[in-house]
Amino acid sequence: MGSTNLNNFLNEKYVSCQLDKELFYLIEIVADSCKKISNIIRNEKNKDLFGDSNSFNIQGEQQKKLDVIANEILIKDTQSSGYIAGIASEELDDIYKIPEIYKKGKYILLFDPLDGSSNIDVNISIGTIFSILEIPDKFTINNIKEIDYLQPGINQIAAGYVLYGPKTNLNISFGQGVSSFFLDAYNSWILSEEKITIPENTNEFSVNISNMRFWESPIKKYISDCLSGLDGPLAKNYNMRWVGSMVADVHRILKKGGIFLYPNDFRLTGKTGKLRLMYEVNPMSFLIEQAGGLSIDCENNSILEIKPTKLHQRIGVILGSRKEVNIVKKYINEL
Ligand code: AHG
Ligand code: MN
Ligand code: MN
Repeated sequence: MGSTNLNNFLNEKYVSCQLDKELFYLIEIVADSCKKISNIIRNEKNKDLFGDSNSFNIQGEQQKKLDVIANEILIKDTQSSGYIAGIASEELDDIYKIPEIYKKGKYILLFDPLDGSSNIDVNISIGTIFSILEIPDKFTINNIKEIDYLQPGINQIAAGYVLYGPKTNLNISFGQGVSSFFLDAYNSWILSEEKITIPENTNEFSVNISNMRFWESPIKKYISDCLSGLDGPLAKNYNMRWVGSMVADVHRILKKGGIFLYPNDFRLTGKTGKLRLMYEVNPMSFLIEQAGGLSIDCENNSILEIKPTKLHQRIGVILGSRKEVNIVKKYINEL
């Protein structure tokens, strides 16, 4: 039996009416951009493309050269496609206005071009995260405003991420399960798994525990109970993993089960989490829930139902295997 590539896979979805032609082509373009990013990362000759740039993003974070390069690749490749009305990126201050010369389409594309920037220069897994929404009103196609982007995660038509790990791996969902592809030696995306489900029984948590003193009490209590292991109230021994790239940490949970937390932190303005709702938390939550998991904020709201109030909104997040997230829910309700 021959292997299925991304084009065959999308075509099948198109034929069975699960996907329209524009979305089909848009996904291919985004996946191609990620191939380019992957090839840049993996080419030993590109040493001068690594390291810090001399610019800062709207969150005040110093951009890495690769943050800027990945952002430019995604914008350049998608803006002329004719399938999108607008773009928003973690690395841009405002929504990106597609030049007038290009035809517009009904989709809105959002991305974190390079996730896990602190890991770029030490050869640890990094990623790209993307989210696709539809414009709320087709008459605004040529004049899309920020408000048109501020839709809850449940409205995502598709979302996905590419993990630049030991292998380059694309994970995607159109709202009917999660599918996974690997980039092969011929630079083709080959389908490796469909309908991924998160294991239910887990004992792994992923959190930056060094921030514990800045968290609210329910999360502090939950993690300290995890640390008490078999003798504590949760009565099991946990294992901990923290890569520091959301894509890698959440991917591990998708495959092996467990829980990922980036909780509210008292140091951040508005006592919120570090991660960004529209570029990181919504797309990753969409995949986690499509794989049978759960994603909530620190007030027990379903992440995917939160209506964003601004483009670069940050949020505290707890996601992963359903049973484990439900345990944290109880801590939040009771404390
Ligand atoms: P980005 O590189 O896009 O700014 O994202 C980094 C994020 C996320 O990938 C990760 O989960 C988190 O920052 C790591 O934060 P710590 O510094 O607390 O490890
Ligand atoms: Mn990120
Ligand atoms: Mn980033």
